[in-house]
Amino acid sequence: EEARRIKIWEDKTLPTAKVIKIKDSTEHRERRVKIQGWVHHLRREGKKLLFIQLRDGTGYLQCVLTNLLSSTYEAITLTTESSVILFGKVMELPPGSHHKAPGDHELIVDYWELICGAPSGGTYYILDKKSNVDLQLDNRHIVIRGTNTSKNLKAASLVTQLIREHHLDRGYMEVHPPCIVQTKTEGGSSLFELQYYGKKAYLTQSSHLYLESVIAALGDVFSIQKSFRAEKSRTRRHLSEFTHIEAEFPFITFENLLEKIEDLVVSVCDRIKNPNNPLGQLVFEINPDFRTPRRPFKRMSYTEVIQYLKDNNFKKSDGTFYKLEDDISEGTERTMINKINEPILVCRFPAAIKPFYMKKCSDDPQLTESVDLLMPGVGENLGASMRIDNYDELIKAFIEKKIEPSTYYWYSDQRKFGSCAHGGYGLGLERFLIWILNLDHICDACLYPRILDRYKP
Ligand code: 4AD
Repeated sequence: EEARRIKIWEDKTLPTAKVIKIKDSTEHRERRVKIQGWVHHLRREGKKLLFIQLRDGTGYLQCVLTNLLSSTYEAITLTTESSVILFGKVMELPPGSHHKAPGDHELIVDYWELICGAPSGGTYYILDKKSNVDLQLDNRHIVIRGTNTSKNLKAASLVTQLIREHHLDRGYMEVHPPCIVQTKTEGGSSLFELQYYGKKAYLTQSSHLYLESVIAALGDVFSIQKSFRAEKSRTRRHLSEFTHIEAEFPFITFENLLEKIEDLVVSVCDRIKNPNNPLGQLVFEINPDFRTPRRPFKRMSYTEVIQYLKDNNFKKSDGTFYKLEDDISEGTERTMINKINEPILVCRFPAAIKPFYMKKCSDDPQLTESVDLLMPGVGENLGASMRIDNYDELIKAFIEKKIEPSTYYWYSDQRKFGSCAHGGYGLGLERFLIWILNLDHICDACLYPRILDRYKP
């Protein structure tokens, strides 16, 4: 009751407060500012002192409220995750200050307002590390406000930006192919089907067929687009909807393609380490062991991998050894790559276990000019190949894989109107983040993960 009677107001004789974001504190030292954000943490020292750790997405700032400011009803009942406006002077913290908050500044508040409160107890019941994974995923809209999860999201934003920057710096042009399609690229079992004005359509599994159609118009091209896979099992690296970074290049050889893949990985890692990039430090905070891999990456043919698995006593789930034309299971692939502990380009997969569009090797038509990039901690991170560029050969490949060629007329036309040797890659952003940030699970690399049985929130 007593607190309800306490009123505070802004002293209009003070200098006008400039609206700033926390990240801009340094330029505004000793000036009066207005900052809006959310209460990340709260600490009370008696009635006369309240410390708010404010969060505005750009950083964290310790804010000090004293005397009447910390005695109002709003101050006494304030909870974490409430939104507030704070006015005051932003000051550099003295070196060695015992309550030094991240950001090295504090705000000496002279007036504040509550915008919207939050339930008492804050988000503790959700953010509690012991709460189960499903509960955490159901409440991901709240969980993302936490320090660690928001750090992962910022790192994901940075890495996406650097990947785009790499492609643009190399002169590749960005395009935006459609996600609602009539064609399958990676096989029927993982297709999401939908009704499109009464006709059957699919959610795209990969944009690369469209990218192939654009090279004769724009040359080297790339897209950053969602791809969809109806993945029937829960694993730590499968999503039903993932962010696909794909590029396609005309007039290249298979060797050129391998070099472009190495260039992508090394260039993005080097950009993270560039000291001019303030967010790069975040990656090291999350994964102190982050390193740029050395070029050239280790190369193994698929046949050599099968031999390696035999020599190292890796067996299939039925207890037998892997043989040629077997798909290597996720678990085996990951154990192998963790043992080798460096990126590997696995080349020349059998045509029998790869999609229709891959070019056959000139010295062995049973094999394809294809490559998977395996990374420690995650396994397959990128898939790439040269594409069949001969019309008759493509039609034969459709028939072999029991695909009706007519829907693909626009794709086959590419082989009639000035065909050329070409190829490209597809990198899964979330898997790349698992590797860069050394994450446990692909859901940690994703804003709102879509996995088996989950499409909320
Ligand atoms: O190996 P994939 O299936 O290759 C393609 O889609 C080609 N059309 C790409 C191209 O040549 N342009 O997929 C490429 C990458 C995988 O290496 C993986 O990183 C990611 O996409 N990926 C997935 N990521 C998360 N969840 C899934 N279900 C994924 N499926 C593929």
